[in-house]
Amino acid sequence: MKFVTLVTQDYLPGFYALMQSIADHGGLEPSAKFLVLYADGQVLRHAPQIRKFGFQFEFLDIHTLGKAHAPLAERGRNKFQIALQKLLIFKIPSEEKLCFIDSDMLCLNSLDGVYAMEHFSIAPDKPKKYLRDRLPVLNTGFMVFSPSSALYDEITEYINQSSETFDWGDNGVLNHFFYDRRPEEIHLVDRNWNMRKKAMIHQPKSFDLKKIRLLHFVGNNPWTHFAGFLAVMAYERDYLSLNILWWNYYLRSQLAAGFLPASKALIASIPAGFIGAAVSFLDFFKFAAGNRISSWLEANLKSLWANTVKYARIKYTRKIPARQDFPLLLRSLKAQGKGVEIGVAQGRFSEFLLKSGEISHLVCIDPWKEQSPDVYQDVNHVSDEEYERRYWNVSQRLKKYGEKSRVMRMTSEEAAPHFDRETLDFAYIDANHSYEAVKQDLELWWDKVKPGGIFAGHDYLNGKLPEGNFGVRRAVDEFVEDRNLQLHVTRERWPTWYVIK
Ligand SMILES: C[S@@+](CC[C@H](N)C(=O)[O-])C[C@H]1O[C@@H](n2cnc3c(N)ncnc32)[C@H](O)[C@@H]1O
Repeated sequence: MKFVTLVTQDYLPGFYALMQSIADHGGLEPSAKFLVLYADGQVLRHAPQIRKFGFQFEFLDIHTLGKAHAPLAERGRNKFQIALQKLLIFKIPSEEKLCFIDSDMLCLNSLDGVYAMEHFSIAPDKPKKYLRDRLPVLNTGFMVFSPSSALYDEITEYINQSSETFDWGDNGVLNHFFYDRRPEEIHLVDRNWNMRKKAMIHQPKSFDLKKIRLLHFVGNNPWTHFAGFLAVMAYERDYLSLNILWWNYYLRSQLAAGFLPASKALIASIPAGFIGAAVSFLDFFKFAAGNRISSWLEANLKSLWANTVKYARIKYTRKIPARQDFPLLLRSLKAQGKGVEIGVAQGRFSEFLLKSGEISHLVCIDPWKEQSPDVYQDVNHVSDEEYERRYWNVSQRLKKYGEKSRVMRMTSEEAAPHFDRETLDFAYIDANHSYEAVKQDLELWWDKVKPGGIFAGHDYLNGKLPEGNFGVRRAVDEFVEDRNLQLHVTRERWPTWYVIK
């Protein structure tokens, strides 16, 4: 078995970090063989430093293997010509099996199982990424195979006769080729042999640094970000801990290669690591202290930050994007005293308001009683039996808020006389949505709200919908127009309207 990596000058940093990580964790004997397939002469100049990693190194110019096959250029796939150069690895003259590893990978755990792998062993790319017929997409960053000219010729012949455009470069070609021509040769190995860094965010359950053998930095390479720290901020925020990990190996590789403390590499690397750490102390912390604490901190700080920014915006514009921001609106207007919700149903919004801690008292008004279908048509118009159950649930639900909430089991019309003029900080109307009923509610409750308080309601919509007969929008529009009020509406499927009195 021989390990093979394709190295261009651009990928030299990746190759160094990979070699350092293999030396640290690969568990390989010094007799392990490595073939460095280089695509430009600059790489060869590094041979003395590369040999310091202690394995048996061989260097081979990829151009001696022939020219990369180019028919895809005619199919508008120019971009992938370089990636296709990689296919030449199938032409490497070798009696032994080869283990190809992309140079944008890091070895984090022992590679010992690799010697037992058969031709053509490869790991699936990411879950739920299928080629066709639900065949898992294979990722060619890691593969064990037996090279032969016959195999290479068959691949190029396949490209020529196929009408595919082969998205994903060599990956696309090899996926199609092996599934079409040699499906029986495919041996799927565990994803830990080729784990994408993005799995850290997208499939955190399968991402365990203690188990990953080869971590693949597909996408942005860690060594290219430091060209601009804005790039780090914009694209790589989530993966900084992994990028810092990569920099750690890279810096050590430069020491091992004898480049440090020479000069350039040090100067080039230290600010990079430094910026990385400075930009995301939390990510670094996550790496050092374990995911739990830092995720908790991150989530809370993020929401604290988001709420602070959001709150500032609401305070300044008096606009809220969604009903869930209603408590922030109350805070921004210092309207956190007593409010009413007219139409309670299951008490979800009532509980949300009470839970927010932004109100001192909420009166929840609903008759929980069947009415004539001529008067009330709505999905929330249910049988008396169901109403009874809802009333009981709401009472239980709100119990924990004690004196802070009060339930009035009566209609809007019956409840209104119990409130004095200008005593409420807000009124939220969400009862019968018919034009006539809303018009009446608006008249009933407007006077009860203090100047500076919020007069609001749900479902600013018109028309016959499957959910009911809505005339809220018409009634509210007429109401605000008559009084020359400024109307605000949230941007939601079921919008909330409000007026600051
Ligand atoms: C859309 S639901 C309320 C949803 C609730 N506000 C929420 O966001 O979770 C409408 C409720 O209004 C009640 N309702 C119907 N007519 C009413 C009236 N005249 N006065 C008060 N409530 C009424 C219904 O019993 C129903 O439970």
